[in-house]
Amino acid sequence: MYILAGSTGHPIAKDIANALKEPLVKTTIKRFPDDELYVRIHDDIADESLLIVQTTYPDAKIIELLLWQNAAREAGAKQIITVIPYFGYSRQDKQFEPGEPISAKALAEHISLSTDRICTIDPHKEYLLDFFKKPAISCSAIPAIADYLKTKDIDFILAPDKGAQKKAEQAAKQIGCKSDYLEKRRLDGTTVEIKTKTLDITGKKVAIIDDIISTGGTMAKAIGELKKQGAKEVRVACTHGLFIDNAKKKLRNAGCTEIIATDTIKNEYSKVKTAYLLIKSLIDGETILPKNK
Ligand code: R5P
Repeated sequence: MYILAGSTGHPIAKDIANALKEPLVKTTIKRFPDDELYVRIHDDIADESLLIVQTTYPDAKIIELLLWQNAAREAGAKQIITVIPYFGYSRQDKQFEPGEPISAKALAEHISLSTDRICTIDPHKEYLLDFFKKPAISCSAIPAIADYLKTKDIDFILAPDKGAQKKAEQAAKQIGCKSDYLEKRRLDGTTVEIKTKTLDITGKKVAIIDDIISTGGTMAKAIGELKKQGAKEVRVACTHGLFIDNAKKKLRNAGCTEIIATDTIKNEYSKVKTAYLLIKSLIDGETILPKNK
């Protein structure tokens, strides 16, 4: 088996290659004078399994993934496994208004064309996996995030909205503390409203858990609510840290003690590694075989 790191596949691809003791493919990636992308696989991968790691964010990385998949097919790979640590466009997972696309479905269908299997981490909704036309599985970074939070003596886990409630409950159970959730209403892409709810958090160390931090608006509102109610420390943790525009400043200004994210989108807050979660779910799903078996 070979592992291919797309330009958004680091450091996960390298971690997977090290853990599985399989080689990373030698590649070239550059742009033509007109800015179109050029990619090339240098190793002979004919009749080999190839695991491509590429997050589909931002937009240009989607094209890159499609080119890697095609290069692998043309090179005669026996099996192509596409690992998408962060599945971009996953939040447009239905038609909110008539005339809109189901963007996640459109993307999933295209990604399915030149692959045999797909694996992703904490998709925005679990049913997104059904949009792929090839077998697709996911794994959750929440247990790894909870392990990290355990080292910070967290007393309470909060979900900033109902969508993250299960994740908060799961982490709280693992840590051995209480959890709750807030009611959120999104007004537009950058503005949210959070309903006041009395929580038992005075003097406590709280962590707010969500799948994505994008503009930071959701987390900033939730931090404000917790601070108002006397929380001693408030950490925010997510699987996918996009941190758009001034998200970090927004979180700091709201009184955030610490920002925690995984490495699905590499940034300064990527404190939780995900490669071993992916490997486990690929082995459990019998997509790859453990070495020496
Ligand atoms: C939405 O349903 C997601 O789970 C996140 O709550 C949302 O994407 C966060 O976005 P933002 O950081 O822009 O508030």
